[in-house]
Amino acid sequence: MERNFSLSMITLSLTHFLLLCLVVAAAAAASNNITTDQQALLALKDHITCDPTNLFAHNWTSNTSVCTWIGITCDVNSHRVTALDISQFNLQGTIPPQLGNLSSLATLSLSHNKLSGDVPSSIYTMHSLKFLDFTDNQLSGSVSSFVFNMSSILEILLTNNRFSGELPKNICYYLPYLKALFLNKNMFHGKIPSALSKCKQLQKLNLQFNNLSGAIPKEIGNLTMLKGIYLEYNKLHGEIPHEIANLRNLEDLLLGMNNLVGVLPAPIFNMSTLKLFDLINNSLSGSLPSRIDLSLPTVEFFGLALNRFSGTIPSSITNASKLTVLALGENTFSGFIPNTIGNLRNLEWLSLENNYLKSSTSKLSFLSSLANCKKLRFLNLAGNPLDGFLPSSIGNLSVSLETLFIGNCSISGNIPQAISNLSNLLTLVLEGNKLTGPIPITFGRLQKLQGLDLAFNKLVGSFPDELCHLARLDQLFLFGNKLSGSIPSCLSNLTSLRSLYLGSNSLKYILFFDFSSNFLVGTLSFDIGNLKVLLGINLSENNLSGDMPATIGGLKDLQFMDLAFNRLEGPIPESFGDLTSLEVLNLSKNKISGSIPTSMEKLIYLRELNLSFNKLEGEIPSGGIFTNFTAVSIMGNELLCGLPNLQVQPCKVSKPRTEHKSRKKILLIVIVLPLSIALTIAITLALKYKLNECGKRSTVLSNDCILSSQATLRRFSCLELLQATDNFAENNIIGRGGFGSVYGARLEDGMKIAIKVFHQQCASALKSFEAECEV
Ligand SMILES: *[C@@H]1O[C@H](CO)[C@@H](O)[C@H](O)[C@H]1NC(C)=O
Ligand SMILES: *[C@@H]1O[C@H](CO)[C@@H](O)[C@H](O)[C@H]1NC(C)=O
Ligand SMILES: *[C@@H]1O[C@H](CO)[C@@H](O)[C@H](O)[C@H]1NC(C)=O
Ligand SMILES: *[C@@H]1O[C@H](CO)[C@@H](O)[C@H](O)[C@H]1NC(C)=O
Ligand SMILES: *[C@@H]1O[C@H](CO)[C@@H](O)[C@H](O)[C@H]1NC(C)=O
Ligand SMILES: *[C@@H]1O[C@H](CO)[C@@H](O)[C@H](O)[C@H]1NC(C)=O
Ligand SMILES: *[C@@H]1O[C@H](CO)[C@@H](O)[C@H](O)[C@H]1NC(C)=O
Ligand SMILES: *[C@@H]1O[C@H](CO)[C@@H](O)[C@H](O)[C@H]1NC(C)=O
Ligand SMILES: *[C@@H]1O[C@H](CO)[C@@H](O)[C@H](O)[C@H]1NC(C)=O
Ligand SMILES: *[C@@H]1O[C@H](CO)[C@@H](O)[C@H](O)[C@H]1NC(C)=O
Ligand SMILES: *[C@@H]1O[C@H](CO)[C@@H](O)[C@H](O)[C@H]1NC(C)=O
Ligand SMILES: *[C@@H]1O[C@H](CO)[C@@H](O)[C@H](O)[C@H]1NC(C)=O
Repeated sequence: MERNFSLSMITLSLTHFLLLCLVVAAAAAASNNITTDQQALLALKDHITCDPTNLFAHNWTSNTSVCTWIGITCDVNSHRVTALDISQFNLQGTIPPQLGNLSSLATLSLSHNKLSGDVPSSIYTMHSLKFLDFTDNQLSGSVSSFVFNMSSILEILLTNNRFSGELPKNICYYLPYLKALFLNKNMFHGKIPSALSKCKQLQKLNLQFNNLSGAIPKEIGNLTMLKGIYLEYNKLHGEIPHEIANLRNLEDLLLGMNNLVGVLPAPIFNMSTLKLFDLINNSLSGSLPSRIDLSLPTVEFFGLALNRFSGTIPSSITNASKLTVLALGENTFSGFIPNTIGNLRNLEWLSLENNYLKSSTSKLSFLSSLANCKKLRFLNLAGNPLDGFLPSSIGNLSVSLETLFIGNCSISGNIPQAISNLSNLLTLVLEGNKLTGPIPITFGRLQKLQGLDLAFNKLVGSFPDELCHLARLDQLFLFGNKLSGSIPSCLSNLTSLRSLYLGSNSLKYILFFDFSSNFLVGTLSFDIGNLKVLLGINLSENNLSGDMPATIGGLKDLQFMDLAFNRLEGPIPESFGDLTSLEVLNLSKNKISGSIPTSMEKLIYLRELNLSFNKLEGEIPSGGIFTNFTAVSIMGNELLCGLPNLQVQPCKVSKPRTEHKSRKKILLIVIVLPLSIALTIAITLALKYKLNECGKRSTVLSNDCILSSQATLRRFSCLELLQATDNFAENNIIGRGGFGSVYGARLEDGMKIAIKVFHQQCASALKSFEAECEV
């Protein structure tokens, strides 16, 4: 009996002991009070290394209550910190582990700062946290090194940081209420875990702009609350699981820029809730349902561009009245463009390029119908066999139109003057058609035009002076036409403007003259004063004759010159040795005589020199590029002599050479041509592919860039910059660097700007420019 009693006593005290332990543990937890909170926040303050607004120094002071600090919210009853929101203070520093002691915190937002370093795992176990926002910082860490264990969390936003590693398989085990998971714009790789379907409440899943691979797990179809799936810009493979069509609340489905394959499952086209539907740039195939208006009644963004879709564009699409963006370019769609397309009154962006689409009428009636789309800003029809004439109703298109591509569409007839009504056009491309007649002089009204491409048509007449009014023009392509007359002297108005264009986009300041493959006759001569900034000249395959002017030597930035296949004569001017940037020179197939000037040995960047089939004579120089005979072509010059390895005859004892006198410098542009002679001109500020690239790029729009692309970056005229800097006066210089000088200036409208003038045009200068722009 006694024994039993004592035994139970022992049991009792053991229980007691255990209870005691529990009480102690509870006390420890409860000991997190406002003092703990303050300590945690002061630890954060300590970890901030840069606080440009002095938030911490002036406000977060330990002699005032935590609850009065900026960014802090306390609960009145518990007197604990429930929200910490210090977004957009430009803070630099790291996140201390003590922050995890804010055990009553429901909202933690550190977004839009410059915080860096690994996020301590204590943060991810804050059980009362509902909202976690680290968007736009430089935070790192691998999500797999910890496990999200936040039993109350509703939203996790880690967008645009440097998180990496794989997404852990068990990512959702401890996130029962999670509604939004934004891990986009990080460096995650590996597969999308199928256990994501454990986050049953998930409404938005954003994994865009990572490096995820593998297939989209079909389990995603079990997340019935999903409203948005954003997986663009990853490396996802495989087919799109048809289970996605089970998601009856889905509004946004963005799967573009992956490697998805296969026929799109029909039910996917049958998601009546979809608003943003983007599959751009995958390898998907299939055709559109005939009553797409009933299948996708609410769709606003419909992007299938850059895939392998085929079949016709059903006319029912014109019933999808919410459409603002329709991007079907670069597929194999065929049939007619619906004539009722103008019923899409909200349309802002229409790209149908590079398909097999036709017009049901030669007057392109669908184009007239588009006049009803008053918000249209972008229209790309290029590369479709439209086979018709541009109707003058093209001038009734939306005045907000900024981009119009109708290149390579088998269009005949004249360019309607009415096109000049489109006064907000930035880019107009009609290249590669069968257009005839003159360039309308009314083009001078397109005051905002930056790119004009009329190349490869059958345009006649002269280069209208009115084009010289297009002060913002930086790309002009007119080659491959039958234009005639002289190059107007006002052209130099354009070149000077463009030479000072401080464009965006890593646009290199290339000024490129391309008059190639035409019937230019006359002599060659440049007003060097105006064309100093030339980087390239291509006048090959014309009928130019006479001497090359010595003034060419003033083109210090010239990197590329091709004068092949002309009838140029006389010697190579000594001044060619001053073309210090020259990389490629082709003078082949002319009648150039005399000797090769030794000054050319100085051209240290020259890597290709073609002098073949001329009448050159005398000794070939032996220095510079002439030491590398794979880089020099001299064949077909019977009278040249030199070292035996050059496969020319050895030189006899040198005798004085008869120098041809080069003709007098001529100071104006004087390629003056008889009117009857066809002339084609192409001047480009950027190389041609730039324009094409833009055209291409514009077909590819992600949700992020839908309506903001086509950026109209401000351009400046030479005059504006000259005035703003007092003709680049010394006293306006605010800095000098290895590559150039920086001038401070104020424009007439009061805007303060900095202007960098590069002393040299080289890759490193451009890199430095790009780096500076980023900063
Ligand atoms: C917080 O708890 C600590 C010990 O756990 C205690 O010393 C302190 O007085 C408490 N502070 C407040 C404000 O309750
Ligand atoms: C901190 O800022 C808040 C909000 O502006 C203000 O109410 C408070 O008095 C400030 N505290 C100090 C110590 O300046
Ligand atoms: C709090 O301390 C700061 C210095 O840390 C001081 O400048 C400020 O005047 C103090 N404020 C109060 C209300 O005592
Ligand atoms: C706060 O957290 C740190 C690290 O997470 C821990 O070492 C410390 O003991 C905690 N402090 C308090 C007062 O709870
Ligand atoms: C998650 O939190 C719960 C509750 O605090 C705890 O029991 C569990 O051990 C934690 N799990 C992990 C993996 O940390
Ligand atoms: C993405 O993954 C590939 C290998 O799959 C790797 O080569 C590349 O560097 C990764 N890119 C980023 C940004 O992590
Ligand atoms: C997921 O959905 C499928 C039907 O698509 C169903 O058969 C399966 O049981 C669901 N799984 C879970 C875990 O709910
Ligand atoms: C599309 O949905 C409708 C009704 O929701 C249904 O009747 C039809 O069979 C579906 N079509 C496809 C191809 O799934
Ligand atoms: C389409 O995706 C491929 C990679 O899959 C990429 O190389 C290409 O640049 C993308 N095209 C466009 C226009 O973005
Ligand atoms: C547009 O919808 C109406 C009503 O459903 C239908 O009668 C009409 O045929 C549709 N138009 C086209 C072009 O499919
Ligand atoms: C070219 O510029 C000069 C000087 O600014 C001006 O007088 C002339 O009218 C311009 N020519 C054209 C065609 O714009
Ligand atoms: C010689 O010229 C060729 C062709 O331009 C080039 O590939 C090669 O690198 C040059 N060799 C030397 C030694 O410069």
